[in-house]
Amino acid sequence: MELDPRTIGTTASYKLLIGCVVPRPIAWVSTVGADGVPNLAPFSFFMGVCNEPPTIAFSSGPRENGKKDTARNLEHTGDFVVNVVDDTHAEAMNVTSGEYGPEVDEFALAGLTMAPGVQVRAPRLATAPISMECRVAQIVSVGRGPHSVVFGEIVYFHVRDDVYDTKTGRIDVHRLQPVGRLAGNQYSHIHDIFEMKRPNENYRG
Ligand SMILES: Cc1cc2nc3c(=O)[nH]c(=O)nc-3n(C[C@H](O)[C@H](O)[C@H](O)COP(=O)(O)O)c2cc1C
Repeated sequence: MELDPRTIGTTASYKLLIGCVVPRPIAWVSTVGADGVPNLAPFSFFMGVCNEPPTIAFSSGPRENGKKDTARNLEHTGDFVVNVVDDTHAEAMNVTSGEYGPEVDEFALAGLTMAPGVQVRAPRLATAPISMECRVAQIVSVGRGPHSVVFGEIVYFHVRDDVYDTKTGRIDVHRLQPVGRLAGNQYSHIHDIFEMKRPNENYRG
């Protein structure tokens, strides 16, 4: 099958893209609005981009009336928190993805508990296994819409004790149980993990 994104149309290319780039991690992004209303929404156009300093990026698409609440809020405060979605939070994450107005507090709507940020104004999800407090480093406008690609420097990590291996300094993914996004409404559990040693003996990851 050969498919040209310029001729198949926007919806078809969106379906292709989200089915081809799988599994995707989910940034469950918390922010606070200028009016003080907390906001929480999932974004799976999400990745780590740089480790010095630790930096992530996610992309927020347009809404009919402008930008999504997340993008508008973080432009105002200059910060946000990326919470990791694990198996126990999958359904609540889905609830927070509704296209609600800016006056809606998705923490309250989904019955979730907030905790204050240490370095940022944005709240974090108290029960998340990992939360990364971020300062906005850059916002790049990409594509038609346009989409806001938000780069954030991680300025503070909250990691639940049992998912952090103090001997190796690694996250224990067996315990973390992150959820991945696939195509359409499909998701994946990460329960089947295997290891491969790098050819490079000095690999420190
Ligand atoms: C798993 C999942 C991943 C999503 N990924 C994105 C994404 O990468 N970019 C985006 O603009 N919207 C994405 N959405 C949709 C947003 O979560 C949705 O538009 C939400 O209402 C935005 O909320 P806000 O206006 O409070 O920021 C995703 C939804 C789900 C369920």
